[in-house]
Amino acid sequence: MRRDYYAVLEITATAGPREVRQAYRRLARQYSPDVNFWDTQARALFEEIAEAYRVLSDQAARAMYDRFGAAVAGDDALPAGRRGEDVHLVVELGFAEVARGTSVRLDVHGDLVLVADRYRAGDAGIIARDHVSGVNLSSLMLAALAIRRPVPSALDVGTGCGIQALLTARHSETVVATDVNPRALTFAAFNARLNGVENVELVQGSFFEPVQDRRFDLVVANPPFVISPDHDIMFRDSGLPGDTVSREILTQAPEFLNEGGLAHLLASWILKEDEPWWNPVEGWLEGRGCDAWLLLYKTEDPLASASDWAKAFHGNTEADYQRAMDRWLDYYKEIGVATIATGAVTLRRRSVPNWLRADEYPEGMPTVETDAVLRIFEAQDFLSTLPSDEELLGRALTVVDAHRLDRTLRRSQP
Ligand SMILES: C[S@@+](CC[C@H](N)C(=O)[O-])C[C@H]1O[C@@H](n2cnc3c(N)ncnc32)[C@H](O)[C@@H]1O
Repeated sequence: MRRDYYAVLEITATAGPREVRQAYRRLARQYSPDVNFWDTQARALFEEIAEAYRVLSDQAARAMYDRFGAAVAGDDALPAGRRGEDVHLVVELGFAEVARGTSVRLDVHGDLVLVADRYRAGDAGIIARDHVSGVNLSSLMLAALAIRRPVPSALDVGTGCGIQALLTARHSETVVATDVNPRALTFAAFNARLNGVENVELVQGSFFEPVQDRRFDLVVANPPFVISPDHDIMFRDSGLPGDTVSREILTQAPEFLNEGGLAHLLASWILKEDEPWWNPVEGWLEGRGCDAWLLLYKTEDPLASASDWAKAFHGNTEADYQRAMDRWLDYYKEIGVATIATGAVTLRRRSVPNWLRADEYPEGMPTVETDAVLRIFEAQDFLSTLPSDEELLGRALTVVDAHRLDRTLRRSQP
């Protein structure tokens, strides 16, 4: 029987990403095949450590493991299912779909079941322009960051299969979800019904255009922010040059917020040589009447970004890959990309002198708690009222209740 992954890494079930990483590094060094080549037990242990790390360092896999154990944490285990414990769904299909044949992808996110278009790595090069993506890393990032507190009204821009709208519908009286792709709206409507959600209004149109005269308490957007030379895939390519789509979403969102309302927006932006990562976004938000918290997920050089996209959607042969790489790299050169930054921006509309705070997310995917995000805003509000840094020294600070302090003591060698 497999050992508990936490026990394998010698950590507790509450260990944070940094602890998981440190434990893995320590044990991997200790049991590395390089130093234990002839020791078969150590090699088996090394594989076990690597597997435990693979699952526990990936937030989605770890959540699955915590809920269901090792049986569903591995990539290979899911298709087999467990007799008697599988989920049974009845899906209604239109006549045309039955006549032509169809297949969909089904994602389970917490207790939501979401249907979207199916895509597998081998399908590269034949993705349809109106393909509706299922739950992916960027969907999960935004879902994890969004503040889950009751609000009267919310807006989801570029809803796709509807994941953000359906999550938001739980703590918002009404949600408006927009998408330019009618196929996305069909999936989102289907998913709303599938999950018994009735307070989402789906509207076709580009970004904020269908809600011009409306204001919201919460806005979420995972737009097609990829900096791309193409205009082939609706969920990826906005058709706007460079990072224009991110700039447009970030600069327009404040106009659709009520006072005190929050917007969580994913974005990518271009950095020139040696430019600080927050610089372009700071410029875009200047004078927009919002406090802003920037959270950087990653920076990539043009080669890494082009290669990711060329591999994912531009064909199965080496020649296809090379053609896509050339096109993407030429484009990046032409528009002067040194680095591409990707992150999340949380805005709060506030008609007083505004602040901007920039943080880097250490590694991997965020597990952000609503309370923690609200505390960041509270703390930053407080800091922005201090006339000087010295003033802070005179204040008594206290840690929050949920604060956890881990201390490791080691006996020194005699
Ligand atoms: C990256 S997907 C995000 C889907 C979903 N919200 C999520 O978080 O997984 C981007 C979505 O934006 C939509 N989109 C693309 N261009 C748009 C536009 N001009 N106006 C509104 N939505 C757009 C795409 O059709 C796609 O559904």
